[in-house]
Amino acid sequence: MQRVRVSVRLRFAALLALVVLAAGGALLAVAYALMAGHLHRTLAEPLASHTLGTLREEFALALAGAVIIAGGLGWAAAHRLLRPLREVTDAARRVTGSGDPRAALVAAAGPRDELRELADTFDAMLERLGDAFAAQRRFVAQASHELRRPLTVIRTELDVTLADPDAGAGDLRAMARVVEQAVDRCEDLVSGLLTLARGEGVAAGDEPADLARAARLAVEETRAEARSARLSVRCDLQAAGVRGDRRLLDRLAANLVENAVRHNVHGGGVVVRTRTRGDRALLTVENDGPVIAPERVPAMVEPFVRLGGGGPGSGLGLSIVRTVVRAHGGELALTPRAAGGLVAEVALPVRTAGPPPAARAAGSGAPATRA
Ligand SMILES: Nc1ncnc2c1ncn2[C@@H]1O[C@H](COP(=O)(O)OP(=O)(O)OP(=O)(O)O)[C@@H](O)[C@H]1O
Ligand SMILES: [Mg+2]
Repeated sequence: MQRVRVSVRLRFAALLALVVLAAGGALLAVAYALMAGHLHRTLAEPLASHTLGTLREEFALALAGAVIIAGGLGWAAAHRLLRPLREVTDAARRVTGSGDPRAALVAAAGPRDELRELADTFDAMLERLGDAFAAQRRFVAQASHELRRPLTVIRTELDVTLADPDAGAGDLRAMARVVEQAVDRCEDLVSGLLTLARGEGVAAGDEPADLARAARLAVEETRAEARSARLSVRCDLQAAGVRGDRRLLDRLAANLVENAVRHNVHGGGVVVRTRTRGDRALLTVENDGPVIAPERVPAMVEPFVRLGGGGPGSGLGLSIVRTVVRAHGGELALTPRAAGGLVAEVALPVRTAGPPPAARAAGSGAPATRA
């Protein structure tokens, strides 16, 4: 880096010196030629030659002086001009994986030129990096916290049971059941986190898939649960072909239908619809349930958020839905119903005949919830 910096400076100084040498040389040569013509016409020969000789020396000296001064000025000017660049370089060196990148902000002063623009753009990037790092740290902290809860339950159960010398088979069974539940919870969490990590920031595959099939599977999986809550589940599943990762799409439908069943009221209803509209394949899941304040909606898609406090879930379901939707270049809209409950609508690019769209950037589709 040091060498590159010096060399840009050196090149700038040399260029300036060269320009002065060329321009000054040409000017002096013309002046000399005119002068020589004039002197030869007006002066006697030895005197004219002598005067021209002196003139040549003086011109050469003047040119050398101008070139040296130009080089020096170029050297100094380049130092000043390149200062924002040096600041950006230093700032980039200060950024590390840990710590807050915002501590390295350049905050360049000086005229609003291209270099200032570079420094400002760099600052904006550091701000975004800072936000991303903070979000990641928060996520890891929450994930650890969530994982620790079932682990604490397991440890407590084991400690209490082992400390009791009279514990019988019944006690051990009871303990095993609690431990089993806690292990289930750990497994759910870990598989949810893995799905999130897999779907984050990547474009989904391009297998042909049908949202209707994914929705049907999801409804079948929750049938028993819906029946025990006395829910009425209605389906209107028309073909809705998309391209993507079938496993992730199944998971998306499962999470939405599961939410509609779990966050419902006893005897409530669930409607699951799939269809195409224009260039979009739609999956809509609507359910009864407690009233949701519209301002809580953006939070619902954040990891580990459960409205109404607690609940048996891990709060990852909708985050996974959002991630999968983004990976497929689609949109997610969550609309609370005035009478309670929610309408969740996923719109993905419909599958058209022919080759899949080549460039489907991950994360291009912002969710309608603006979360
Ligand atoms: N269909 C819905 N109707 C009413 N509330 C919902 C619905 N879907 C989600 N919610 C609310 O949003 C919260 C977040 O949902 P999300 O699916 O992310 O987590 P979860 O269902 O609590 O847990 P998980 O899905 O990880 O098992 C829920 O806890 C619930 O309060
Ligand atoms: Mg859920």
